[in-house]
Amino acid sequence: MTLKGKVAIVTGGNTGIGKAVVLALAEAGANIVIDYIADEAATEELEKQIVALGDQAIGVMADVSKVDDLRRLIAAGVDAFGRLDIMVNNAGVETRTSVLETTEQQYDKVLDINLKSAFFGTQLAAKQMIAQGNADKMKTLNAAIPLGRMAQPQEIGSVVAFLAGDGASYLTATTIFADGGIMQSSPGL
Ligand SMILES: NC(=O)c1ccc[n+]([C@@H]2O[C@H](COP(=O)([O-])OP(=O)(O)OC[C@H]3O[C@@H](n4cnc5c(N)ncnc54)[C@H](O)[C@@H]3O)[C@@H](O)[C@H]2O)c1
Repeated sequence: MTLKGKVAIVTGGNTGIGKAVVLALAEAGANIVIDYIADEAATEELEKQIVALGDQAIGVMADVSKVDDLRRLIAAGVDAFGRLDIMVNNAGVETRTSVLETTEQQYDKVLDINLKSAFFGTQLAAKQMIAQGNADKMKTLNAAIPLGRMAQPQEIGSVVAFLAGDGASYLTATTIFADGGIMQSSPGL
């Protein structure tokens, strides 16, 4: 497996599981953005390990429970490496308190760092990935369709209305492909 040319962000990336993920992705060839909230020295040491593997790395201090910080984290990665391919929402905390003793503040902290961060981290990363790649995929798909484009919704609606109406009264046991010709031009579909 190679991740050469890919760019990964790993949140909470300078300790524990995050650090192991960072090193595994770097060993596979990815350039890495290490998100961290504490211990800049550990982050710098990890950056050196990644460079020794032949990849590039930057550390970005960002609190993943804050959407503005997540936005800044992703922007820093794109500024440094031009793209984003892999988002690992690893950062997390736990409070070792029982259900009976958990305070509202503890609840909010855990949910913000563990859940809100993953939701908005994924949302912002997806927006970046769509912006950098989705235009190309549509061109490839359109090129595979003999009519050169996806259907307009009305073009499917009108076929359904025809099949349900009197005009199709003698049609039976057949399949109508309203597909711009892609079934004809793509053996195996
Ligand atoms: N180790 C386990 O057995 C285990 C089990 C279940 C879930 N997990 C989850 O796996 C992930 C990694 O766990 P770990 O064992 O490596 O623990 P860890 O404490 O080493 O890693 C958590 C990382 O998240 C970072 N972090 C905390 N709050 C942050 C914030 N607001 N912004 C940015 N970073 C923040 C911490 O600084 C740390 O680097 C966590 O989400 C944890 O909940 C771990």
